Amino acid sequence: MYINIYFSGIFGYVNYLVERTRGEIVNTMLDGMQRLEYRGYDSAGIAIDGDKPNEVLLFKEVGKVAALRKLYENSDTDNKKVFNTHVGIAHTRWATHGQPSPINAHPHRSDPTNEFVVVHNGIITNYREIRALLEGKHFVFETETDTECIAKLAKYVYDLNKHRDLDFTELTKLVLMELQGAYGLLMKSVHYPNEVIATRKGSPLLIGVKTEKKLKVDFVDVEFPEFAEITVDSPMETSNGLLALPQSNGLSNGSLLVPMGDNDLRRSQSRAFVSDDGIPMQIEFFLASDPSAVVEHTKKVLYLMDDDIAHIYDGELHIHRIRREDGQPTIRSIQTLEMELNEIMKGNFDHFMQKEIFEQPDSIINTMRGRVDFEKKTVTLGGLSSYLQTIRRCRRIIMVACGTSYHSCMATRAIFEELSEIPITVELASDFLDRRSPVFRDDTCVFVSQSGETADTMLALQYCIERGALTVGIVNSVGSSISRQTNCGVHINAGPEIGVASTKAYTSQYVALVMMALSLSDDRISKQARRHSIIDGLSKISKQVEEVLALNDRIRAMAETDLINQKSLLLLGRGYQHATALEGALKIKEISYMHSEGVLAGELKHGVLALVDENLPIIVLATHDSLFPKVMSAVEQVIARSGNPILLCNKGENALSKLHKTYRTLEVPATVDCLQGLLNVIPLQLMSYWLAVKKGFDVDFPRNLAKAVTVE
Ligand code: F6R
Repeated sequence: MYINIYFSGIFGYVNYLVERTRGEIVNTMLDGMQRLEYRGYDSAGIAIDGDKPNEVLLFKEVGKVAALRKLYENSDTDNKKVFNTHVGIAHTRWATHGQPSPINAHPHRSDPTNEFVVVHNGIITNYREIRALLEGKHFVFETETDTECIAKLAKYVYDLNKHRDLDFTELTKLVLMELQGAYGLLMKSVHYPNEVIATRKGSPLLIGVKTEKKLKVDFVDVEFPEFAEITVDSPMETSNGLLALPQSNGLSNGSLLVPMGDNDLRRSQSRAFVSDDGIPMQIEFFLASDPSAVVEHTKKVLYLMDDDIAHIYDGELHIHRIRREDGQPTIRSIQTLEMELNEIMKGNFDHFMQKEIFEQPDSIINTMRGRVDFEKKTVTLGGLSSYLQTIRRCRRIIMVACGTSYHSCMATRAIFEELSEIPITVELASDFLDRRSPVFRDDTCVFVSQSGETADTMLALQYCIERGALTVGIVNSVGSSISRQTNCGVHINAGPEIGVASTKAYTSQYVALVMMALSLSDDRISKQARRHSIIDGLSKISKQVEEVLALNDRIRAMAETDLINQKSLLLLGRGYQHATALEGALKIKEISYMHSEGVLAGELKHGVLALVDENLPIIVLATHDSLFPKVMSAVEQVIARSGNPILLCNKGENALSKLHKTYRTLEVPATVDCLQGLLNVIPLQLMSYWLAVKKGFDVDFPRNLAKAVTVE
């Protein structure tokens, strides 16, 4: 379910010794936010410096970034004012706590003078307790959000320790110690002008770095503190917690564990940003929850890890940790992004989803590139090779995923079982966790995710890691949490998928999973003939996808004339095509808002048949495989009840002529049984696309959905 889920966008821009007018700064921020639009959001806001010292201006608006731009343009803010150094933070919000409204939009503030302002993705689970305590300290909350408590808490801790001259990092550490839940956040304050804090726990955040001069080294050192206990001067009436919150990490008996030594570290420059001549480097930083907002400015990016506190000031980026943990990496590398901006643009298509459907001949090839040798009939998956023996010996393979990614597991389970002869279970991540399903050290758990950030899948991954199982990631987003936290895996290399409805990621996951099954069985002579036929099938699949895409006009017409006014649609399939039916139904409901259901054809007679009449549209996945006779018997049952099915079948299918009824067909080329779903799903993707377009819905931003579901 997608109810109450979100994936808001964060963007921040810092210029240091690089002159920028306020207009330029705001444009950079708004453009960055626009790059994040595809994630879905309902309101947007920015925080920038005002004209007076210690003045921070907030602009917040409901709707698209364009509406915020208008609001800003209609204000009398001086666009020509030049800033040599400046910090701006921005956010696109998807409502969780509180309706979409300008006041509930981020940035949130500590007080009416905007002393501390915060943008935040994620959920602070103990915000009610923090809010109640701060209200007890005369803080007046103006929104219904969880985020506001962070800004107010920062001011509270700042005021409490004013005489102690905490730097921004130290202050942040004290604030974070009180927060429970998930966050990616940026914070800016009038008390720390031209400084920004970026920190994350369970919500992605990265920092792009742009300099004229080459960076000295391509990493940033992590700075760990020494702890010292100090006495708090203005103790709370409670004796055992800074705010007396459950599990508060702050005070112990009226004294505060303050991470010390940061002041010394502050003097030590991070090696990446030291220029040879000792002159401060001109530098710009782009902070974002997603690389697509950064890539047009710089390809040099650093991904923050959970619990990192990045502190940018004086043109330097410092990364701090609250505590030193054994085995933690002591540097964060500055990587070079491979992604091109045009890869994340729509090109000549009307919608990202349409572009991505039509990209599939290429994206499938990219998934196989350098991995499948069609002549030698071998498959080499570098990310798995040293784990193959362990996987072959495991007691079972558990595939875990959500939504479309789950369907790709369903689609490939049978070929996995057949080739590997290892028991396979396929689990919806949330249900798997709800059941606290037993997992053992000799299990292999495969996590399939386009974004690599889906909360349920991530939690299932943590669950399996704790139980000592081998974990494998099948992920599209490089550098994502799942790809980093699994023992090994395969990047599906489908390229950025921007449309909320997953299309090319599905077919690439499917191919990646088939490649994994092929790799697992490449030591078995008995499977060789079958493996070779699948590899031959893969060699032709891209061309066949192109052929299926040629059905586009016919499907558009079918959507417009036969289906658009229907309330409901059934999709029937069995064997390999059960997953196709489920995936087709999900696509149709999520973007065209039409009720649709994927039904296992074998289950038809156990209840679903009651729905069948001359009106209900039914698409039957009737391509040729060993189960074809059984599928045809389902078709006959439907026809016997005056049903009027649309048959998705192979070109020139003769058996259909025996049906004593006129029927409509969508004809697709034939391939090996276990790959047929790759071709069959495409007409259904197109059908969902055209139904949504014809109904006038926002194809790339369907209601109530987000691209990456980073909360449970
Ligand atoms: C449907 C869709 C969702 C995702 C699901 C898992 O089109 O996009 O069902 O497949 O939320 O997302 P990932 O694959 O990012 O883990």
